[in-house]
Amino acid sequence: MRMVDLIEKKRDGFELSTEEIQFIVTGYTAGDIDDYQMSAFLMATYFQNMTDRERADLTMAMAASGDQIDLSAIDGIKVDKHSTGGVGDTTTLVLGPLVAACGVPVAKMSGRGLGHTGGTIDKLEAIEGFHVELSTEDFIKQVNDIKVAVIGQSGNLTPADKKLYALRDVTATVNSIPLIASSIMSKKIAAGADAIVLDVKTGEGAFMKTAEDAEELAHAMVGIGNATGRKTMAIISDMSQPLGFAIGNALEVKEAIETLQGKGPEDLTELCLVLGSQMVVVGGKADSLEEARNMLEEVIANGKALDIFRQFIKAQGGNPAVVDDVSLLPQAKFVKEVPSQKEGYISFMEADEIGTAAMVLGAGRATKESEIDLAVGIVLHKKVGDFVKKGEAIATVYSNTEDIAKCTEMLYNSIEFKDEAVEKIQLISKLIT
Ligand code: URA
Ligand code: CA
Repeated sequence: MRMVDLIEKKRDGFELSTEEIQFIVTGYTAGDIDDYQMSAFLMATYFQNMTDRERADLTMAMAASGDQIDLSAIDGIKVDKHSTGGVGDTTTLVLGPLVAACGVPVAKMSGRGLGHTGGTIDKLEAIEGFHVELSTEDFIKQVNDIKVAVIGQSGNLTPADKKLYALRDVTATVNSIPLIASSIMSKKIAAGADAIVLDVKTGEGAFMKTAEDAEELAHAMVGIGNATGRKTMAIISDMSQPLGFAIGNALEVKEAIETLQGKGPEDLTELCLVLGSQMVVVGGKADSLEEARNMLEEVIANGKALDIFRQFIKAQGGNPAVVDDVSLLPQAKFVKEVPSQKEGYISFMEADEIGTAAMVLGAGRATKESEIDLAVGIVLHKKVGDFVKKGEAIATVYSNTEDIAKCTEMLYNSIEFKDEAVEKIQLISKLIT
């Protein structure tokens, strides 16, 4: 096989065989195919797209390019959830114990935050003593015992994706549905998922800016999942404004605890119930989304989900008393309300910009090497559709430096007002099952 022939075949709109796709992925990962030929292939794919079969083959070839986690020693269907990134998105912290309480095993590999988006591991580390360095043996034992465990990314997972993503970044080929879908799905499959639930975000704060693009990506990933024998469901959810009220690590742990107590923000609670229902169904513990939702509401009401959260914290070295006393979480030195400079209905709250305002305080990383401050962040008091009086607190800033001018300026710049009433944003626009 010659790479030049495969580039030509894709360029002219023909379908590549399974062997041809494997040849490209293994050749590129091993360094036998150079960047210039791979770049041409990516651009041809960008314009010609891929068939469902090609997408599934590309995903499996990338998943097989490095280590693959074997979770077969865990009983039951291992369900993973993936979100395409957001601001103040605390769903993983809530969903882990929530679906575990319904009997679905959650063996989750998570990452750290970068830029304006947060990471589950950083949030969990806001709990004193919590650690994510578990041996594979302990990880599996913990999931079998209490149904939930979270570890950091380790090993050499999907090296083909790492190399391809870097190349796509500099060849204007990131924004291609088959390439994004196979990139995301290959990582979930390599991490051992038997079933997958996807939260595809839309809006200003998201990767996919329009509902149409988000829907196409969701369909592409569900198609790949089903073609590779992993039951997959997806939703499209809004990320034009931050999720919930809290943005910042310890603040989001508190918000997750409140949500598990049934006292969380309406949007975060709804998102967890919808994604959780899909996880319980693909995990084989309920036959319908309605039945699953009833189960989730019950384990919130009877305290079982919260109790699993305590057990999960304890199993990973953390202090479970935080669940009953959130003052044990890291506290910021300065707590200041931000008064609104304007009056009216909030018509827009730019998620990216607010995420960056929290990053400026130290809640997020500007670069991979940055240190973060787990105590700091922003708690919003208002969301799109709410009426605000001039001088009324629009948010509270938690900071360890007295000067928060830069953060408040960014907050002011991220919020727009209208004189006439504004509708609330619809959180979930589509379910794809
Ligand atoms: N996220 C990924 O993991 N891969 C992509 O290609 C785009 C977003
Ligand atoms: Ca939040």
